[in-house]
Amino acid sequence: MKTVKRKSAGTHFSMCVQPAFIVGTNNEDGTYNFAPITWVSVTNEKDSDYLLTISMFGTKKTKQNVLRTGILSVNLVSTDMLELMDYFGTHHAKDGKKDAVPYNVSKGEAVDVPILDASRWVYECEVVQSVETGESTTFFCRIKNVQIDEQLECDDTFDINLTKLDPVVYSGMYHSIGKLLGKIGDFTK
Ligand SMILES: Cc1cc2nc3c(=O)[nH]c(=O)nc-3n(C[C@H](O)[C@H](O)[C@H](O)COP(=O)(O)O)c2cc1C
Repeated sequence: MKTVKRKSAGTHFSMCVQPAFIVGTNNEDGTYNFAPITWVSVTNEKDSDYLLTISMFGTKKTKQNVLRTGILSVNLVSTDMLELMDYFGTHHAKDGKKDAVPYNVSKGEAVDVPILDASRWVYECEVVQSVETGESTTFFCRIKNVQIDEQLECDDTFDINLTKLDPVVYSGMYHSIGKLLGKIGDFTK
């Protein structure tokens, strides 16, 4: 394997390869709000009890709603949703309802959260713990339900072909993914 020649770049290069999700929340007046959140990862308590870890900085409406209600939907963004994500991410609920780009919304089945009809993979979540780090809050979110596109065939959580979900990957810029390369163990002799 080749050796890469690197240079020290400074700590502000904080790039992480991030999955793109749009978080749906309930406003105080019963309306809904959506915003892209890509600081999303996963951990587990035991066995199949997975928790999403979701970080939000500042005082954005989405964060205020999660702090107030403790519930949220986490909608995977496929490339056909890019315009919607970009719109949600460049507009703030405090400046008015985000309805300049058309989209349809349903209610969660297990949790009373707004869900984007366009998303092929949706988590309905409830916050069980949160950790403050300066101006950011990281929410540990119990997954109460997962809604999956009926067309997606998968046997278990290790059998998900991301090329079919066509997710947006974020690094500060938007990307799509390339090929399916294999499964765990395929590259071990
Ligand atoms: C691609 C993308 C990813 C983002 N990821 C995050 C994130 O992980 N955490 C966060 O706090 N804000 C994130 N933001 C910023 C919010 O989405 C943005 O501030 C949004 O306008 C907030 O909307 P709201 O005020 O209606 O809640 C992201 C924005 C974009 C465009």
